[in-house]
Amino acid sequence: MKIELTKGVYWVGAVDWNIQEFHSYTLHHGTTYNAYLIIDDKIALIDTVKPPFYEEMLQRITEVVSPTKINYVIANHAEMDHSGALPLLMKDVPEATVIPSRRHGELGLTKTFHHDWKVMPADETSEVSLGKRKLKFFPIPMLHWPDSMATYLVEDAILFPNDAFGQHFASATRFDDEVDLNLMMAEATRYYATILMPFGKLILQAIDKLKGLKINTIAPSHGIIWHSNPQRIIDAYITWAKGETKKKALVIYETMWGSTEKMAKAIVKGIVSEGVEVEPYNLTVSDRSDVIAQVLTAKALIVGSATHNNDILPNMAAFLTNLKGLKPSGKIGAAFGSYGWGGGAVKTIENMLKEMGVDLVEPSISVQFVPNSETLEQCFELGKAIAKRVKSQS
Ligand code: FEO
Repeated sequence: MKIELTKGVYWVGAVDWNIQEFHSYTLHHGTTYNAYLIIDDKIALIDTVKPPFYEEMLQRITEVVSPTKINYVIANHAEMDHSGALPLLMKDVPEATVIPSRRHGELGLTKTFHHDWKVMPADETSEVSLGKRKLKFFPIPMLHWPDSMATYLVEDAILFPNDAFGQHFASATRFDDEVDLNLMMAEATRYYATILMPFGKLILQAIDKLKGLKINTIAPSHGIIWHSNPQRIIDAYITWAKGETKKKALVIYETMWGSTEKMAKAIVKGIVSEGVEVEPYNLTVSDRSDVIAQVLTAKALIVGSATHNNDILPNMAAFLTNLKGLKPSGKIGAAFGSYGWGGGAVKTIENMLKEMGVDLVEPSISVQFVPNSETLEQCFELGKAIAKRVKSQS
């Protein structure tokens, strides 16, 4: 079945229902590798797919036109999930011209594929006429790599921004008005938090660059195509990129014999007593990527661990290392935890939160063995203090 975005523009990508991991993040709903075919006097293919899905893409192209007729292959991004099938495709269409971004995209393809393809690098000064329609190009560095580029089909006002505005969301249908929008936005949030969170400033610059364009449709390289309300995802990106948060706190912890969990529960009670929204996450059972998605819009992170080998527990270590790389901005936080014979966990948490630029509410709370009622009262008061800061700062 042909899937047409508008007359002469087709989705010819692939659906990966089974993938559960991307860059060490968990995926709950698979993903898609979106490729788009534009039929005009000249024929252009925008992006390809992950190599195992080449035949699936080729079959979809063949339903529309003979693949040998493709004149241009736009490689918006050199990463393998979009350019990985290029060597296979170029064997079938050796005369086609590949168009990567001038800034890093050309280099990325050369260093990855060591190819001898005909290449025409593009930037904002470039324009490709397909006949009745033309393509323009906009570098959007770090959405998601330095080479990333958006392609714009002028006459139909369709933006093909590759990774930007995507979601890891496999589905039988392709458009935003054919799926559960709440679920899709939740996946768009996870996608942004786990992949794009460090690049807020560059994202705002990219959106600013695209501001003058009329955009009827956003056709990203992963997930659903935004054609009913493309502004919805643009607005969400602006909010996330600015680091805007809700009046919400997260209590994120890992426990060994239950002491750190008792402390976490007392902190949660303190936050609730101030009427502030709070979500506790025990990292032994919570999905790390889900927690990171919540971090994106939470104001406060209260982080606790039991001590193990004079340091934090392994799930907490993975979480904090991951979060540090994502450079969350504008957060307040606190550290807590427990130990048996020698401490260490709370100091590590304090240091890591400070390295991330989290504004710490002190003092941290560290308890030997099991917290008594007095320590639990301190935890309750810490929760209250955090909640008051959340209410005053958000
Ligand atoms: Fe979907 Fe950066 O690749």
